[in-house]
Amino acid sequence: MNIKTLTQNPGSLVCDLLILPFFEHQTSLEPHMNQIDQALGGQITSVFAQKDFTGKRDNLLLLPIHGRLPAARLLLVGLGKRTLYDLETLRRAIGLATQHTKPRSVKDVAIFLPQSLSASLRPEDVGQAIIDALLTSRYVFTKFKKSQDKNEHPAPLSNVTILCSNPKNRSRLLRGALQGLAVAEAVNYTRDLSNHPGNLMTPQSLAQEARALAKSTRISCTVLGKKQIEKLGMGALLGVNQGSALPPEFIILEYRGKRTVTPYVLVGKGITFDSGGISIKPSRNMEEMKFDMAGAAAVLGIFKAANNMRLPVHLVGLIPATENLPSGSAIKPGDVVTALSGKTIEVINTDAEGRMILADALAYASRYKPKAVIDFATLAGAMVVALGPEYTGVFASSTTLMKRLQAASARSGEKVWPFPLPEGYKEQLKSHVADLKNVGNDGAGGGAITAALFLQEFVSYPWIHLDIAGTAWMTAERAGYAAGATGVGVRLMLEYLR
Ligand code: BES
Ligand code: ZN
Ligand code: ZN
Repeated sequence: MNIKTLTQNPGSLVCDLLILPFFEHQTSLEPHMNQIDQALGGQITSVFAQKDFTGKRDNLLLLPIHGRLPAARLLLVGLGKRTLYDLETLRRAIGLATQHTKPRSVKDVAIFLPQSLSASLRPEDVGQAIIDALLTSRYVFTKFKKSQDKNEHPAPLSNVTILCSNPKNRSRLLRGALQGLAVAEAVNYTRDLSNHPGNLMTPQSLAQEARALAKSTRISCTVLGKKQIEKLGMGALLGVNQGSALPPEFIILEYRGKRTVTPYVLVGKGITFDSGGISIKPSRNMEEMKFDMAGAAAVLGIFKAANNMRLPVHLVGLIPATENLPSGSAIKPGDVVTALSGKTIEVINTDAEGRMILADALAYASRYKPKAVIDFATLAGAMVVALGPEYTGVFASSTTLMKRLQAASARSGEKVWPFPLPEGYKEQLKSHVADLKNVGNDGAGGGAITAALFLQEFVSYPWIHLDIAGTAWMTAERAGYAAGATGVGVRLMLEYLR
């Protein structure tokens, strides 16, 4: 795909689709807009006058052109109130514009940026937001649909042109746009991995993906198989794996964008299917539990983008991967396992498997003497109840880390909400027979918090835990973005590391 930023008059550009953004109740048109309006015989002024289009948030209007412009289609998009305008507004407007034009064969898209759209924001951020929104809103997962419906298989974009009125912004816009391309590709890659069904995205497939990333010279990959996992003593990961016919994998990635500095370690929950095990889940929506490796997918996506963007950081990625299934050999409630750290865990509920495999990965992380460890996990159903689909719950070992993450969240558009790690709730994890039990007290509430407190027992460094149980998957399409995996975590972490 070709990305260009030009200062050309949008009225003279040949393309399949020209997007013109407007604020609510916009009274005057910029000179370029005026020219387009004139070429169309005053159509833009008249749709405003007749209130067929008001510029309100989510307003869309496709105007007939009848050959009066070289563009094949013209789409007016509303941004809402000028005072509320931010990058998120722009991303949303582009998402809806894409959805609106999906059935049409659109390969060359241009978007005109009036002066007012980049005045209050950094041109780099605007360029990045536009390309990111364009590519992630066009994403569909159609690998297993063999029909030829164009709606389901939109043509890939060949050209995207950002037209700006201020020539000074051109190169900065382009720089941002290229970042946006790297980010969007990584987000869509992460979505692809999570959207794959459990029979085709196994622990072994995750390991294969990691090895493929390591084809780049800056990334290296080591995968520990079952024998090595046994030798190390990862009893919690092995316990969860007991019911599966497939062996576990422990995936280690390293990206060196910078020498000799202590790394950030990124840990991703890699449960390729979570049936609950012997504490089996109800069958309703159980098929969605193929996305229980969304944390692992986010880590792989972050490595992909960090490498493409040549981020000057040192990263280590750790992915404990296994299925969670019931069988005659499966782990049972009441069983006790010894984790890598030496702590013993009494399994009360085999469906609380994410914290078990993460316990071993978090203990393993300490050998890197990390600057910080950030884990991504679809950990607790209670988090879905607490925050719903738009906010990721965050736990951090210090307020400094929490603030830094919140700043990255504001820049990336991925919303987060802080949670506490209260000492007093640790009582709930006491077991009569082992050092810890794997769930809090029945009916005590705060399930996402006790899950995080369990993880904290295995942490000995600065740490952030992101519970993406509610945000990694959308049951239905939202604001032009496809249902299914969201790729959450990738944008957030790339901003954090930048
Ligand atoms: N993978 C689930 C958490 C989950 C639930 C993610 C719903 C997304 C949507 C996790 O392994 C799990 O099953 N957790 C249990 C813990 C409980 C047994 C203490 C839960 O949340 O019910
Ligand atoms: Zn579970
Ligand atoms: Zn799970």
